[in-house]
Amino acid sequence: MVKSGKPAGDLGINTMLAHCGNDPYEFHGFVNPPVVRASTVLFKDAETMASQNQKYTYGTHGTPTTDALCQAIDQLEGSAGTLLVPSGLAAVTVPLLAFLGTGDHVLLVDTIYNPTRRFADSMLKRLGIDVEYYPPHIGGDIANLIRPNTRVIFTESPGSNTFEIQDIPAIVAVARERDIITMMDNTWATPLYLKALDFGIDITIHAGTKYPSGHSDVLFGMISSNEKCWKRLEESYTALGMCVNSDDAYQILRGLRSMGLRLNHHQQSALTIARWLEQQPQVARVLHPALESHPDHALWKRDFKGASGVFSIVLASGGTAEAHKLLDSLQLFGLGYSWGGYESLAVHVYLGDRTVAAQSFEGPVIRLQIGLEDTQDLINDLQQGLTTALPQ
Ligand SMILES: Cc1ncc(COP(=O)(O)O)c(C=O)c1O
Repeated sequence: MVKSGKPAGDLGINTMLAHCGNDPYEFHGFVNPPVVRASTVLFKDAETMASQNQKYTYGTHGTPTTDALCQAIDQLEGSAGTLLVPSGLAAVTVPLLAFLGTGDHVLLVDTIYNPTRRFADSMLKRLGIDVEYYPPHIGGDIANLIRPNTRVIFTESPGSNTFEIQDIPAIVAVARERDIITMMDNTWATPLYLKALDFGIDITIHAGTKYPSGHSDVLFGMISSNEKCWKRLEESYTALGMCVNSDDAYQILRGLRSMGLRLNHHQQSALTIARWLEQQPQVARVLHPALESHPDHALWKRDFKGASGVFSIVLASGGTAEAHKLLDSLQLFGLGYSWGGYESLAVHVYLGDRTVAAQSFEGPVIRLQIGLEDTQDLINDLQQGLTTALPQ
């Protein structure tokens, strides 16, 4: 917060990140909010207890620390409310459970984060929900898949591992006409590079584990919604007993303060490396939507304000053995899941789960998370890795 109250709407994003959330003057002027660990909250008398007429009532319903983070996210997203959950995957499952019931039909993009698919194919199907996948480039043609019982359209853009960009405004237009709820896993872009609610999406989902945390040491999720969906979302969250601890919420708020600067480095470095990779004989294609060569570059440019630091490369030839040779020879890229941290990572991605969006690739697909190291060091590492995997 700035001294006069709420941050003004036209502030730059790094100014917003520095001042969103808690008001220091509400807590003795300390710049950061207190970390309040809580289950029990006391009421001053029986009447207050009976009426629940006080701001905090029990640890599961929030603390000054979680409130500070929720306020910060609402200011960044322009949302009516934000819920905090223990992982990015929980940020996916809670809204789906909140809005879907037996007999409903849900449309999910086929290039979805794989554990989202696992949840849909197991729990949602078991609950009697009809699960259908659509290709990422469907755009307004999604109208052809709508049924009388379609309740939710779930989007993720870019697609996990293959980075297809969806035409979100076209999908939202179809959904709005038919009163279908739209959700977007917007983890890749963060609200800094795409404000999903401004595009008419009803519920935006983030794995706080990635860029908001930034340090590969917190698991976290955020769900933000517009006014229309807020009440039902919040009721479902409370019914499920979902909550987070204040220590983790504090770490995420701390991460937000530097997220703009970090993302800028991730973006610049990833793009430089992606352009270099495009020139390498061992690389058939670079799947990065901010590259002019990417088939969805125009869509990305139309809707996104930036690109984060995760993209994939398709090797020119070879199979698992060559992919493993590359991964094993990398010195600076750790072999690990997740992304958004300060350190670079590489993974040989599995695409065998795709149904309507299955494609063939020239060679193995390797996803790279570009960390905060010096760009040239990463290029040197990739150069020796590629030469080892596919000697020319
Ligand atoms: C797009 C996307 N959404 C959600 C998640 C889940 O986040 P978490 O690891 O916090 O469960 C991930 C994790 O990799 C992801 O890539």
